[in-house]
Amino acid sequence: MRVTVSVPGKVTLLGEHAVVYGKPALVSAINRRVYITVEGRDDSNIKIFSNDIKLQGLSLKLNGEMSSFEFETWEKKSQILEPLRYILKALEVAAQHYGKKIGANIMVRSEMPIGAGLGTSAAISVGTVAAYSALLGHEMNLNEVARMGHATEVAVQGIASPMDTAITTFGGTLYIKPEGTKPFIERIDVPCDFTSVLGYTQREETTSQILRRVKAAKDQNPKVVELIMDAIGLLVEEARSCIKKGDPKSFGDLMNINHGLLDSLGVSTRALNEMVYASRSAGALGSKLTGAGGGGCMIALCPDRAKEVSLAIKLAGGVPFEVSLSSPGLRVEPPS
Ligand code: MEV
Repeated sequence: MRVTVSVPGKVTLLGEHAVVYGKPALVSAINRRVYITVEGRDDSNIKIFSNDIKLQGLSLKLNGEMSSFEFETWEKKSQILEPLRYILKALEVAAQHYGKKIGANIMVRSEMPIGAGLGTSAAISVGTVAAYSALLGHEMNLNEVARMGHATEVAVQGIASPMDTAITTFGGTLYIKPEGTKPFIERIDVPCDFTSVLGYTQREETTSQILRRVKAAKDQNPKVVELIMDAIGLLVEEARSCIKKGDPKSFGDLMNINHGLLDSLGVSTRALNEMVYASRSAGALGSKLTGAGGGGCMIALCPDRAKEVSLAIKLAGGVPFEVSLSSPGLRVEPPS
């Protein structure tokens, strides 16, 4: 049996990091996807193939240690190993949930850079859980898949909100507020032009490293950091009204404030800041880093100015690409 699923990447419009501490966030699925194919094997091995994350037929024993693995270069170690950890943990989470495991070949293909703040870890976790569950003979229940995807991220990263795994599973644009074991989720219609351009720069740290750094900052200065998180939560509430009213100008102002607060948490970089400011000078209504930070992606809201903003991002040293929002979530692809 062979199953292919695809899962969208995402941009956090507002609220990353604070969402880890229970504040609300606004997030949207983008029109770039990760494709995961899972195919049954006659033995109990797991074999992973991906050109995007430089894994060429890496063989593993199910439940066993990685046998051997050569890195292209040492610098690429985390780029190579991070996605692998999510795939293996997702298989383990699904196998434990159903009390059953079988060997499989796993093929991963991504239409966006992996580990760039676009939710590829969540997409890989959700896609692997969903496709492996189908291989084990279980129908996909989206709530269950999102929960198992989140359990995968928590196990790999140590800390994770349910935001990325929810948006990659359900798609669209969501207002999400973590509440106990089940987050509150509201689907948001975007009634006006939210054309956005993303700017990409090389990642300097992994999501796990940045999440640990933010936690350390919070432990060191709890009162100050809690105020910053509260402010982010408040601006998300304001932005939820702006988006519903169709007011991108006020939404953009809130994006700018959000970027300043994220910078104060120490998660932006010089390269991200340069793209953020360059896009504002080129006419963006608002711009901010998106995702965990430490390099990766920024987003500029720029209806009518996409060309100018793309050029400004390029001149600031980044790689621009236009995205459309509110894309569909997890889906099963027809057999090829
Ligand atoms: C990462 O895409 C978003 C963070 O808020 C982490 C999370 O929500 O788990 C930084």
